[in-house]
Amino acid sequence: MSPPRAECAGLDAVDPLAPSRELFTLPPGVIYLDGNSLGPLPRATPARLAEVAEREWGQGLITSWNRAGWIDLPARVGEKIARLIGAGPGQVVVADSTSVNLFKVLAGALAQAPGRRVIVSEPENFPTDLYIMQGLIELLGGGPSLRLVPPGEIPAALDADTAVLALTHVNYRSGAMHDMAALTRLAHARGALAVWDLSHSAGAMPLDVAGADVDFAVGCGYKYLNGGPGAPAFAYAAARHHASLRQPLSGWLGHAAPFAFEPAYRPAPGIARLICGTPPVLSLAALEVGVDIALGCDLAEVRRKSMRLTDLFVELVESRCPALDLLSPRDGHVRGSQVSFRHPHGYAIMQALIARGVIGDFRAPDILRFGLAPLYLRYADVWDAVAILAEVLDSGAWDRPEFHARQAVT
Ligand SMILES: Cc1ncc(COP(=O)(O)O)c(C=O)c1O
Repeated sequence: MSPPRAECAGLDAVDPLAPSRELFTLPPGVIYLDGNSLGPLPRATPARLAEVAEREWGQGLITSWNRAGWIDLPARVGEKIARLIGAGPGQVVVADSTSVNLFKVLAGALAQAPGRRVIVSEPENFPTDLYIMQGLIELLGGGPSLRLVPPGEIPAALDADTAVLALTHVNYRSGAMHDMAALTRLAHARGALAVWDLSHSAGAMPLDVAGADVDFAVGCGYKYLNGGPGAPAFAYAAARHHASLRQPLSGWLGHAAPFAFEPAYRPAPGIARLICGTPPVLSLAALEVGVDIALGCDLAEVRRKSMRLTDLFVELVESRCPALDLLSPRDGHVRGSQVSFRHPHGYAIMQALIARGVIGDFRAPDILRFGLAPLYLRYADVWDAVAILAEVLDSGAWDRPEFHARQAVT
């Protein structure tokens, strides 16, 4: 028997994270289950953006690079994200996109391991991660190669030729979570470095990149960090790699003395060498608001609620929607903050759900993906969303022509 709605409302009444919902703008009539893809708008963001645009840019003009501290934004927001991912000071910077940051740290990691040629990853890694690895290998003249193995075969795939183990902590499709510390330990034991994409875990759970001895990490600002569409990404490099770290996007703001305008590149000391060009000030200002919200929350509590929300969702869907097959791990300890189900008509079902105000997303070929972000989602929302999902399935309402028409973004 699945829990009645009143029981869910009872959980909301005693939820220590309930007040954080007020920090977000959530349209009435919408149950938002896609914060794993694009976090919602923090209430404080429009005013902060207006301040940066009207006062700092409008009045301060170029003086704001110094007076408003624009030039320090990549490091300042990086220090805040460092606290969310368990990194020490001076090891995280915000710049570019996750794809670009992955390119930089992978290139840097490969260069640290001369004589070793293989990047080990998994075929189910997020496509941009795989494409970036392929592009880098092509650029390096085909010297290095990519070895893709299913998760269970990763330990055996790490050998004396492995330069880098490059994985995404929480899988974008299934929500399955790797043991970052154990795999990093294994990579190190075989003499390889470990690069992690934390896009689906930063802000959704406590992380400890220092404790796990991670070498490099990257991650998105627009998912659980609620930084807004296209928010810049973060990059982490363990301090022990800084002195020898070389990355190919050697732009002027990663130079030791950008305003000396020297003709020859000299990398900045420390993490700043991962910066390439001019920071996107407006986007960084918006990201900082989202990061500040996460910093104000107890991430252990966020993780506890995330596991309860996802458990509840699995339980309700399995009892009320037998046509859907669970893709995510059943064990919450190895699952991120999302739950995915399969159905051959997943796309149309998701469109019908969205038309009813329940917003999740679809991942080819047949996956309905639901992100359950603890900062603003209520247990009763989960109950209501599943009731609507059951109605869509039971009535066959999804099987209308307009729900089958594919849009550019799914
Ligand atoms: C694991 C992972 N890495 C990277 C990205 C996207 O990177 P970018 O912001 O460069 O488009 C995503 C987007 O969903 C993702 O899920």
